[in-house]
Order: sequence, then C-alpha cells, then structure tokens
Amino acid sequence: MKLVLKIGGSLLFDRRKRLYTTRFEQFAQVIGKIATQGHKLVVVVGGGALAKSLINRGVRLNAGRDALDRLGIASTWVCAQLMIAALGDRAYPTPMFSEEQVLEHLAGTRLLVVGGLQPGQSTNAVAARIAELTESEVVVNATDVDGVYDQDPDRFPQAKRFESITVSQLRQIISSLSDKPGEYPLFDKNALNIVQRSGIEVWFVNGTNPDNILDAVSHQHIGTRLVSG
Ligand code: UTP
Repeated sequence: MKLVLKIGGSLLFDRRKRLYTTRFEQFAQVIGKIATQGHKLVVVVGGGALAKSLINRGVRLNAGRDALDRLGIASTWVCAQLMIAALGDRAYPTPMFSEEQVLEHLAGTRLLVVGGLQPGQSTNAVAARIAELTESEVVVNATDVDGVYDQDPDRFPQAKRFESITVSQLRQIISSLSDKPGEYPLFDKNALNIVQRSGIEVWFVNGTNPDNILDAVSHQHIGTRLVSG
C-alpha cells in the first residue's frame, strides 16, 4: 500500500513540553516495520509544543500571520530532522522542503520525512498534498486522541467516537474552529479539500501507542476513518 504517515506534533513532546526522544525512537521502529512489510510511505511531522512556543513569542513581537506560520514551519523542520536522526541511514538525511523535492527523491530507497512547506496551512494539509502527489490511498493520521468525536471528549464524558465519518460531516465539525497559526484544528479545511477531490482516505489513530499505527496499516479498524461523501 502507498501511504503517508502524519505524526502529530503533540506526540513528539512530553508533558513538560520537552522533546520526547523515546517517542522518536518508537516511531522510527514502527516506520521501519511498515517499510519492511513492503509498504511505500512518506512521513510528515508537526511542530507540537515548539511550534506553539515560537508562535507565542512571535505574537509578543507583533509578527504577522505569515511570519507566525513561518515560525511554526521552522519548528516542524526541527522535529523532522530529529525523526531523521531516529531513522538513521534508512532516511534521506534532510527534510524535504518542497513538493518538487519529494517527487525528485520518491523513487529512491530512503524514507522521506517532510515538515511544513508553506504558510497558510498545517502539516495535515502537507500530508494530504503529499498523498495526492504520490498517489497514496491513505493518510494515517497519528494524533493524541482515539479518533474523531461528536463532542469534546475531555469536557463531555458521553462523547461518542465516530468509527467512520464523511468529509461533509467533518467539515461541519471543524467549521467553527480556529485556523490561526499554531491552532489549526484536527484536520484543516485545505487538507479536507485535497482529500475530498482526490478520494484519499484518512485514518485517525491514537499514536500515544505507536503500535496502533501498525494495526491500522494491517487494516485493523481502529480510530476513525474519514471517507468521501
Ligand atoms: P502543525 O499545526 O501542523 O503542527 O504545524 P502541530 O501544532 O504539531 O499540530 P499537529 O498535532 O501536528 O496536527 C505547526 C504550525 O506551523 C505552521 C502553522 O502555523 C502550524 O500551526 N505551518 C505548518 C504552516 O504555516 N505551513 C505548513 O505547511 C505547515
């Protein structure tokens, strides 16, 4: 299977907002296993607490939205470079900084790791674009929640997780949410438009246990599946 694995930035930092090196190692193992099983994957990583911290400082310095997004992008490059360190020789030695670079290196044997690409979007949109570009069927979206819920599960214990959800349903859920730098929702509008037009499925899985990603890839139905419609 051709897939894009999006690793949410929240998974790469511990509770004290420090980079969580053990997690990087765990993800590197999982990524290695997926590749060994014969799947072709590209990895996209978010910026997590580092993005938020840099963007907050930018706000204090009155930076505009473009500059704030660029601070966010810089944080994703740090996380991407650390993921490359964890993957060692299996990975191309630098993050991919453009879609063209991804295309250029796609046929090679080394794993490609991508962070942010351009202002005005989140790394979920990057993952959607890379999936479109590489003709991948699926984006496996590893986050710190079990999937998509009908209400905020932290505030409403009766919240129900969707086993699957359509693009229109998710569009409605995120329509009222912020899309400021550092505050893009679970899946931003750009990302939704891309997966919709290209019929790419998105599987939201809880990556706090990285083995869930392996289960999702071996087609065990966990988390929430975003399907067309
Ligand atoms: P993300 O919002 O994607 O990372 O990028 P995150 O906060 O870790 O979120 P999850 O958990 O991965 O979903 C961090 C910030 O970098 C900027 C945005 O400001 C974004 O909020 N960014 C990222 C861009 O401007 N363009 C990109 O292509 C990617």
